[in-house]
Amino acid sequence: MAKMGHIEKYNYIGLCVFLKIANPMQELHMKSRFQLVTGFLFALAITFLFSLGSFAGEPASIKLPDPQKNAGKPVMAALNSRMSSRTFSGEKLSLQTLSNLLWAAFGINRSDGKRTAPSAFNRQETDIFVVTADGVYIYDAKNNALDPVLKGDVRAMTGTQGYVKSAPVILVYVADYSKVQGGSADSQLTVGADVGVIAENVYLFCASQGLATVVRGAIDKDELAKTLKLRPEQKIILDQPVGHRLG
Ligand SMILES: Cc1cc2nc3c(=O)[nH]c(=O)nc-3n(C[C@H](O)[C@H](O)[C@H](O)COP(=O)(O)O)c2cc1C
Repeated sequence: MAKMGHIEKYNYIGLCVFLKIANPMQELHMKSRFQLVTGFLFALAITFLFSLGSFAGEPASIKLPDPQKNAGKPVMAALNSRMSSRTFSGEKLSLQTLSNLLWAAFGINRSDGKRTAPSAFNRQETDIFVVTADGVYIYDAKNNALDPVLKGDVRAMTGTQGYVKSAPVILVYVADYSKVQGGSADSQLTVGADVGVIAENVYLFCASQGLATVVRGAIDKDELAKTLKLRPEQKIILDQPVGHRLG
């Protein structure tokens, strides 16, 4: 049988139970209508309960609104106000702003799947983990969605400096070295450069929208990697809090 997701599996189990109970339909004269109806309701209830159970404890995937590509200051004005800011108002970013931010960072801007930031050999090895007060997600550029990683507020784990908890969103740049194999000896440098250009996209987006951001290397990477349940080939390179300016 092809690999099934939780819901399909539970629907399948529900269907089997239903068929088991309703099978005697062929001998309709033998069974009362009451037995068939209760069997059907029982199967429906099992399907529903199992479907509910499959969501318990898992944050759902979030579909982002389409990014708005014509908002904000032009690039020269954004360059003129680009700066690092370490104070944030704490106000949440709207889903629209988050979509715009992530698209500016490393969204797909061409029909061949290439991105708003370049990457060496077009490896696209950087995953952006989006850490919020509600939980952690991975940006899925192809589907313009946030895929859940874990529930709960782990913003305090994303940096060793005091201001770290105050930003509503922290983008954690994680390089997947399984996509860099076969590269030259200076792959390490290109991985860093690939993250650097994403970070600059975020700086320019923030400058253009009047948001605050700072790129950070002061991270306890081992602890954060454990928190994010990273595989050994996934390495945290930098992270970048983003939020509304204070005042
Ligand atoms: C690779 C890199 C790592 C950085 N790490 C930190 C950091 O851990 N904490 C921090 O507050 N700022 C960090 N910064 C921001 C710099 O301190 C900042 O860019 C510098 O002071 C110049 O200020 P400006 O960005 O406003 O021009 C980092 C910048 C870069 C490029």
